[in-house]
Amino acid sequence: MSHGFEHRLEAELEQFVRDGVYKRLNYLDSPQAARVRMEGRGDVIILSSNNYLGLSNQPEVVAAGKAALDRWGAGTASVRFICGTFTVHRALEAACARLVGTGASLSFVSAWNANEAVPATLLGESDIVISDQLNHASIIDAARLAKAIVKCQTAVYRHADLGDLEAKLTAARDRRTRLVITDGVFSMEGSIAPLPDLVELCRRHDAVLMVDDSHATGVLGEHGRGTAEHFGLVGEVDIITSTLGKALGGAAGGFVAGSAAVCDYLTQRARPQLFSNALPPTVAASALASVEYLETHPERVQTLNANARYFRERLIELGFHPLPGETPIIPVILGETAAAIRMSDRLLAQGVFVTGFGFPVVPQGQARVRCQISAAHTRDDLDEALAAFKKVGRELSLI
Ligand SMILES: Cc1ncc(COP(=O)(O)O)c(C=O)c1O
Repeated sequence: MSHGFEHRLEAELEQFVRDGVYKRLNYLDSPQAARVRMEGRGDVIILSSNNYLGLSNQPEVVAAGKAALDRWGAGTASVRFICGTFTVHRALEAACARLVGTGASLSFVSAWNANEAVPATLLGESDIVISDQLNHASIIDAARLAKAIVKCQTAVYRHADLGDLEAKLTAARDRRTRLVITDGVFSMEGSIAPLPDLVELCRRHDAVLMVDDSHATGVLGEHGRGTAEHFGLVGEVDIITSTLGKALGGAAGGFVAGSAAVCDYLTQRARPQLFSNALPPTVAASALASVEYLETHPERVQTLNANARYFRERLIELGFHPLPGETPIIPVILGETAAAIRMSDRLLAQGVFVTGFGFPVVPQGQARVRCQISAAHTRDDLDEALAAFKKVGRELSLI
């Protein structure tokens, strides 16, 4: 390998360390759960995973993966349209469509791929994608990719700003298709997209609305069906994408849900589908078991919400000021990146794992620690974590 190339990478990595943005991985040696065994740390309480419903380690979910390994073997050994589709993929896709309330769905190996597939496959040169400023990186890259591949236009509207979105839609009235994309729940804020207004605005401007429900599936709505259920709008969103890597078992995978035509078109033309293997059957079967578990145990969603409410209220009582909200994502703004990292390190020393996020992941001066609550947490887990927040908050003069 070129010495110059290696040297440049090493120099940049050293700069990451000096800038305090170098990420060190924590290795877990137990399943993802409320408490995990972290190498070099022992048992820690996790307030930092997307295992919202605690299904990663649910016996039915694990058993379904094991049974699938025996029935279908290790994997597809081919892309879907050649000979890489198993009956479990069809069952999973029917279940995902049923869960989110669309006519069909199509699975991908990640929600990243699902998002990436939509604009670049369904849009063309005379179309535009209009994206919320705070959308997930996969949506931002999906729009950039579509612009490069199919030469569609792109625009960004200010976060949740309906006036700005309306201006962008009006300016794009000559476009054949206007695709508006928003996260359902914004992962760094824990805030919920203003879906009723978005649906109304998109209808009025004849725009297609796509919602990425990766942090909302299994979380929002009485039955965990997502942002649409939360607002009583099931069936009103044109395209929903979501992940199988968070509330729905936490393994990997994602899906696009929409009309039969949308999913069929993606089956015909989406490049991440046409040129890459499908989900391993073990993962598909665990995800299917997760959807079925959610459908038969909506009380998990109630537990999740009760836990999130409990933790948020106690944090406020302690004197912290989490961003207001009603989701299990509870960010505490600390200002500078170093402050967030210090807080996260001190909490870990107390046996509580909460990640600190700084610039450029969040805006300058708004570094934060982000707590994520799970239905798997017991009140003891949450009380122990709160005691650590109290101790560290006092040490750092935050409360
Ligand atoms: C809003 C959103 N969309 C998409 C993704 C990507 O999900 P996956 O891990 O399935 O690729 C994430 C994961 O962080 C996310 O938060």
